[in-house]
Amino acid sequence: MKGIVLAGGAGTRLHPMTAVTSKQLMPVYDKPLIYYPLTTLMLAGVREILIVTTPRDLSAFQSLLSDGSQWGLSLSYLVQPTPGGIAQAYVLGADFVAGGPSALVLGDNLFHGDGLVERLNSAVRAAEGGGATVFAHQVRDPERYGVVDFDSAGRATSIEEKPPKPRSNWAVTGLYLYDAEVVEIAANLKPSSRGELEITDVNRAYLDRGRLAVERLGRGFAWLDTGTPESLLDAALFVRTLEQRQGVKIACPEEVAHHMGFIDEAGLEAAVARTAGSDYGRYLARYLEFGRIG
Ligand code: G1P
Repeated sequence: MKGIVLAGGAGTRLHPMTAVTSKQLMPVYDKPLIYYPLTTLMLAGVREILIVTTPRDLSAFQSLLSDGSQWGLSLSYLVQPTPGGIAQAYVLGADFVAGGPSALVLGDNLFHGDGLVERLNSAVRAAEGGGATVFAHQVRDPERYGVVDFDSAGRATSIEEKPPKPRSNWAVTGLYLYDAEVVEIAANLKPSSRGELEITDVNRAYLDRGRLAVERLGRGFAWLDTGTPESLLDAALFVRTLEQRQGVKIACPEEVAHHMGFIDEAGLEAAVARTAGSDYGRYLARYLEFGRIG
């Protein structure tokens, strides 16, 4: 299973914070935003990952993440010349996914919750067997998102992008798992009224074929996005609250890489050396000495 992190966009709603840098490089408490979706893919067992970004931000992402080998990953980069919608990742990234299943995550989405790894694993297995899996989460303001509705048996019946009158409060989150057919579906999309290739149209194509699984993430999960100053701060406070209380980090790629067996002790020691002098580095040193907590 390959992965794509979409880290494009102009970040207009975060201006002037994003005037010279990418939204996905903004801090969420103690680490850059992109660490969160990136570690979500890592927890799903994905190691070969394409970062899609803007011409302006490419070099910053390369400086931050390099080739991924420090975390046992293989990272490559692709420029999205102009923002053309989420589904454009599969037009631009067609060669990268090359006939296999893939997971796409939006670079500004944060997932957290007990049992997430099990949910990810079963979605990966499902996509490897054919079809698509998306995740839905209840929100107060569904009109801002892709919205999925269900029949009384819990089967998805409709999926709409930013409907003025949502049929449910179940938003489609920014994590999508697809079989190889996604490339052909994306290639045949027409831009929407906002001029974008909509990922919701891809998901509807799978729904129409009877190949879309919608996994509901219950209220024990947190799904946060970070598109506005308020939601960025909310996400930072959420992470700080849990990290301070529990003494464990959320979305620490070094820890996840070691836990998943992507790097060994020597890899972890190198990470400790790289981050020395910060609380983050002290956390890694403690992890190296005492192992995983919880
Ligand atoms: C996008 C998708 C939408 C999805 C959301 C999740 O919205 O179009 O279906 O619910 O991401 O973050 P956008 O970021 O384009 O407003």
